[in-house]
Amino acid sequence: MNSVTVRVPAKVNLQLAVGPLRGDGYHDLVNVFHAVSLFDEVTAVAETGMSVRVEGESADQVPEDDDNLAIRAAVALARHAGRSYGVSLAIRKAIPVAGGMAGGSADAAAALVACNELWGLGLPLEDLMEIAADIGSDVPFALLGGTAVGTGRGERLTSLEAAGPFHWVFALADGGLSTAKVYAECDRIRAEEGLPVAEPRAAGALLAALRDGDAKALGAELTNDLQSAALRLRPSLAATLEAGRGHGALGALVSGSGPTCAFLAASAAHAGELAGALRDAGVAREVLTAHGPVPGPAVV
Ligand code: C5P
Repeated sequence: MNSVTVRVPAKVNLQLAVGPLRGDGYHDLVNVFHAVSLFDEVTAVAETGMSVRVEGESADQVPEDDDNLAIRAAVALARHAGRSYGVSLAIRKAIPVAGGMAGGSADAAAALVACNELWGLGLPLEDLMEIAADIGSDVPFALLGGTAVGTGRGERLTSLEAAGPFHWVFALADGGLSTAKVYAECDRIRAEEGLPVAEPRAAGALLAALRDGDAKALGAELTNDLQSAALRLRPSLAATLEAGRGHGALGALVSGSGPTCAFLAASAAHAGELAGALRDAGVAREVLTAHGPVPGPAVV
């Protein structure tokens, strides 16, 4: 086999509870990940040496050097296998770049799956998960898909039962937000408040709503501890969230570290209406609809 293409979904966080800053610069999380039907595609072609090319949505904002998360994943996998494999990766982006939807992590996960196949390594998911955790906190979930709760940095995962489908609208913003800067802003806000930071806990009502496929209850339970930090760095997101609420979203929140805003709709038809209303309101660069949960990366 000399070419493998893998399709990989984006994620939205349904609950992102951020604990105190740890000694290693990370935060302990309770992170409820939910994979949604916006997909990047990564094609791996056998080559000597490692290279990456990016096309599609905001491709010019993605590095095409060793900083690219997909290349880092391929290098880490070759090192794990103890061989000097080569690959040329082509990434077709639809997931917003630096948008809080784990697009880079998705590309890394897709590269792991594609190269594992291309190089005939046959490594099990558990091995890929370990390599993934070293690349980034959200990469293990990007390998898993569906709905799952992540603890630790977000890399220790337990799959969750989720009835679904849930219907989503995503409002994309101009430019991205740096995840590290949003966490740092969150720490700054907490320091100003001077209140103790609680250990993060999964919200029982949110897990029940997922299990029952109850969109109304889920909408009321969506929370993101990074939201106030993302809003401080990008105040215009407040109007985007407000517009979605005003047009009947069951829940509205910043996705991960932002700046993408996510809105839960009651049905596919309602998602279409809500998307139209948000476009008309002019509060987003682009508005997309999607459903979740969807499975993780798949060879196509
Ligand atoms: O793990 P990843 O490289 O994706 O994380 C990017 C940045 O986000 C980290 O450098 C850190 O600043 C922040 N982060 C954090 N706590 C986490 C996950 C990420 O502070 N649990």
